[in-house]
This record gives sequence, C-alpha cells and structure tokens, in this order.
Amino acid sequence: MAKVLVVTSGKGGVGKTTSTAALGAALAQGGQKVVVVDFDVGLRNLDLVMGAERRVVYDLINVVQGDAKLPQALIRDKRVDTLHLLPASQTRDKDNLTTEGVARVMADLREQFDWVICDSPAGIERGATLAMRHADIAVVVTNPEVSSVRDSDRIIGLLDSKTELAERGERVEKHLLLTRFDVNRAERGDMLKVDDVLEILSIPLLGIIPESAEVLRASNLGTPVTLSDAGSAPARAYMDAARRLKGESVPMLVPSDKKGLLGKLFGRRAA
Ligand SMILES: Nc1ncnc2c1ncn2[C@@H]1O[C@H](COP(=O)(O)OP(=O)(O)O)[C@@H](O)[C@H]1O
Ligand SMILES: [Mg+2]
Repeated sequence: MAKVLVVTSGKGGVGKTTSTAALGAALAQGGQKVVVVDFDVGLRNLDLVMGAERRVVYDLINVVQGDAKLPQALIRDKRVDTLHLLPASQTRDKDNLTTEGVARVMADLREQFDWVICDSPAGIERGATLAMRHADIAVVVTNPEVSSVRDSDRIIGLLDSKTELAERGERVEKHLLLTRFDVNRAERGDMLKVDDVLEILSIPLLGIIPESAEVLRASNLGTPVTLSDAGSAPARAYMDAARRLKGESVPMLVPSDKKGLLGKLFGRRAA
C-alpha cells in the first residue's frame, strides 16, 4: 500500500515541480515503485521536467472522467523503470477534476505503487486542496524569504483542516523542504536563516536544497537533477531528503561555498 505525498507551498515558483521530479526519481532510483502525479492542470510542468512531454496521450482528467483507463495514461520513465508519470492536461479546465473522480484514481494508484507523489498547483484554492486531499505526508516547499514562509504557514493550516486525515481527526505528517537556498545571500544576511524558518513554521526539516545552476540545466534537459548529475550538490541534497522520507536518519548539511567552508576550517585551526 502506497504512501501518498503532496508537494505543496502556497507560493508559485519556489521549486515544487522540481522537487516532485527529484524526490520521485530519487525514491525510484532506490528501487521504490513511484508515480508522480501532476495536479497543476493548465501548466503541465511536470511532464517537461521529466522529459515526457512528447509522450503524453491521456492525462489525469481523462482518467478522472473515465475516458481512459489508468494504464493508458501512465507514462513509464525511460531511465528508471520503477518511475511513472500521470500527466496533467494542458488545455482542459481544472474544474473537470471532481472530488469523487480524484478519490477513485488515488485509491487505484495506492494499490499499484509504493509512493504516490502529487505536484500541487500554487495558491490555496481548489486545485491545491484537491492535490493535498488524500495525502499521508506533505512536503512543504519553502524559500528562505518572508512571503514564501507566510504562504507555507497558510498551507500548513489547510493541511490540518482540508485533508481526509484531518476530517478523520488525524494528522498529515508534515516536512519542511527549504529550497533555492543561496549561500552567498545567506552569508550576506539577505535571507531568513534556517533556524528562523524552522521556528516560524515549527515542522521538521526534510532537507535544504541549494540554489544551483545544475537544477536549471537538468530542467532544460528534461531530466530530474538526481539523474542528470547525481554528484551535484542539489542532487545529493534531494537524495538525502528521499532517504529521510523512508525513515532513515541522515545527517543534515547546511550548504556553504568552498571559500566559506575553508574560511571556517582555517579560522578554527588558527584559534
Ligand atoms: N534549487 C534550485 N536552484 C536553482 N533554480 C531552481 C531551484 N529550484 C527550482 N529552481 C527553478 O525555479 C523555477 C521554479 O521552479 P518550479 O519547480 O517550477 O517551482 P513551482 O513548481 O513551485 O512553481 C524553475 O525555473 C526552476 O528551474
Ligand atoms: Mg509547479
């Protein structure tokens, strides 16, 4: 039986789709059977980031409406064969996603996969609440800046009220994924500190993903960053986050540039 995970945030452009692809790929690379589901109807980002845009025939709405069977819409990744994508429609309106239809599709997916990872649209409207509705676990993607933290706080409120677990009086397990963490800006004091974000949101930290040109390069290649350059800093951070999701205890590294690190080591040695 799968764990259903929603990647959510409130604010757009913080790294939800990037994180869905990277965490999905990382879990699948570890042998888990994974499906990533694009709930961002209208933008269809996830298929691009996964490099599957030319292979989309049927989508989530087709399956929800009964126009296609689930196996017809699922796209198996060409690089990792335990990784699958259920794409979103580019053209049809998100109002075509009925609550009952989504519930049926999620129940089917739960039976077939170890992980069902839902990429949420931005905002706090219907699309976002549909994406989180069946979640057991939420990854709240946040950038270290005030507006992003504020929106994440609102999303945490929704997770505690508008999900099936909340309606049963239970809790969605929530994790903070701090993304686009810019070492230089952090050192200049231009960003919120990790501890400040943790204190405001008070949910456990799943990982810190550095701002990196490698993420953009991977996205342009249509390859999750954990596959395009597994040794890069963002890929390693996503791999560690995926291991924590599986319950492993992995030490947390706060990203720092080499100069800063050497400076610290040097400073310590000199002291
Ligand atoms: N760690 C990162 N480093 C650099 N760019 C990033 C990083 N994470 C995301 N991005 C870029 O930020 C933009 C928005 O990311 P995306 O995952 O689409 O966000 P969302 O799904 O939350 O709207 C994309 O251009 C993406 O490549
Ligand atoms: Mg997105």
